[in-house]
Amino acid sequence: MKKVAVLGCTGSIGTQTLDVIRNHKDELCVHSLVAYSNLQGLEKLNREFSPKYSGLISVDGEECLLNAVRGADVCVVATRGIVALQAVLYCLDNGIDVALANKEVLVCAGCIVMPKVGKAKLLPVDSEHCAISQCLLGKNRGDVCKLLLTASGGPFFEKDKNCFASFTAQDALKHPNWSMGSKITIDSATMFNKALEVVEASHLFGVEAQDIQIVVHRQSVVHSMVQFVDGSVLCQMASPDMRLPIQTALLHCCKPSNVQQLDFEQLMTLTFQKCDFEKFPCAKLGYEIFNYPPICATVMNASNDVCVESFLQGILPFDAFYDVIKTAVLHFADTAQNVAVTIETIKEFDGLAKQFTKQLIWERYGK
Ligand SMILES: NC(=O)c1ccc[n+]([C@@H]2O[C@H](COP(=O)([O-])OP(=O)(O)OC[C@H]3O[C@@H](n4cnc5c(N)ncnc54)[C@H](OP(=O)(O)O)[C@@H]3O)[C@@H](O)[C@H]2O)c1
Repeated sequence: MKKVAVLGCTGSIGTQTLDVIRNHKDELCVHSLVAYSNLQGLEKLNREFSPKYSGLISVDGEECLLNAVRGADVCVVATRGIVALQAVLYCLDNGIDVALANKEVLVCAGCIVMPKVGKAKLLPVDSEHCAISQCLLGKNRGDVCKLLLTASGGPFFEKDKNCFASFTAQDALKHPNWSMGSKITIDSATMFNKALEVVEASHLFGVEAQDIQIVVHRQSVVHSMVQFVDGSVLCQMASPDMRLPIQTALLHCCKPSNVQQLDFEQLMTLTFQKCDFEKFPCAKLGYEIFNYPPICATVMNASNDVCVESFLQGILPFDAFYDVIKTAVLHFADTAQNVAVTIETIKEFDGLAKQFTKQLIWERYGK
């Protein structure tokens, strides 16, 4: 029986993780549950799963994440932001596998996380990265030509760029294919999520950003692809349902699931398009960020967090994300020059970048 620590158990990925556990009771059990502040939700889950440990980050502090992973076999990281970084490092140091849905931890701390992989596995739950890792199974890394990261394009892909300034939070929260938490849904609409994913993929698979190509695939059936030097391309396809990558990470093998089978009796049109970086400049931050010191990835991520919040509050216009984030990255680029990436510097620059971005948004849009 595999004991699972679920960090972020009340969110979209957390809830789906618990669904996978319910469906594989013979192999998986809940070891611990951690939410941020949703006490009612946590108590309900405690009643159902009787975990060995449960906690709320907002009440018990970050320490509760460490308490939750101790004694687990695998930890699903489905919290927001970088709060779980220390727990991830602890797991890797102590032979506890990490099923990582959270993108931010790898984006900010890839260079300290990846060298620790070995004693324990780092299993990507993000659907694109899970797909790529499956396409790479049994392959020689030297034969890889490009990673092709698919993108749904979000709700505004076909819209005219001139309308972008008028899009509201309500418009942006309507994702065409996936049902996810609000932060990642906005990231999907701006395509900033692809910037995060390019950086994430670069760390996970040891591939330069220039060899990772974003391909817009509106149907979200192909979850990503790998192109090889012989001209062949492998892809992984499935209905868009996060329970599949979660299950793949937790079980390591093919088992029946609740994911709807693709129906090839029906006409299925799959399209692939170039990413329009003019229209979605946030996506190109995933490449640009490698021109700056590594701690700037934390600045980029933190600045985007504040942008999402201000956009949801109706302060920041939808077409202003890129300028604000780029201004923050440029502002810190010099001071970041000789800064080593550590838990402390990540927290420090996360705080500084958030403060700077709030001020910037206030000056530009708050009055
Ligand atoms: N949703 C998806 O389909 C999907 C796909 C790929 C990757 N991811 C990644 O997975 C992670 C979780 O996404 P999600 O969509 O599941 O998010 P979500 O639905 O917003 O859930 C977030 C979880 O984290 C907790 N949380 C809230 N505020 C927090 C904070 N300030 N610090 C730490 N934890 C906090 C929430 O607890 P409370 O309920 O107590 O607030 C909840 O348990 C993100 O990093 C996202 O990028 C998600």
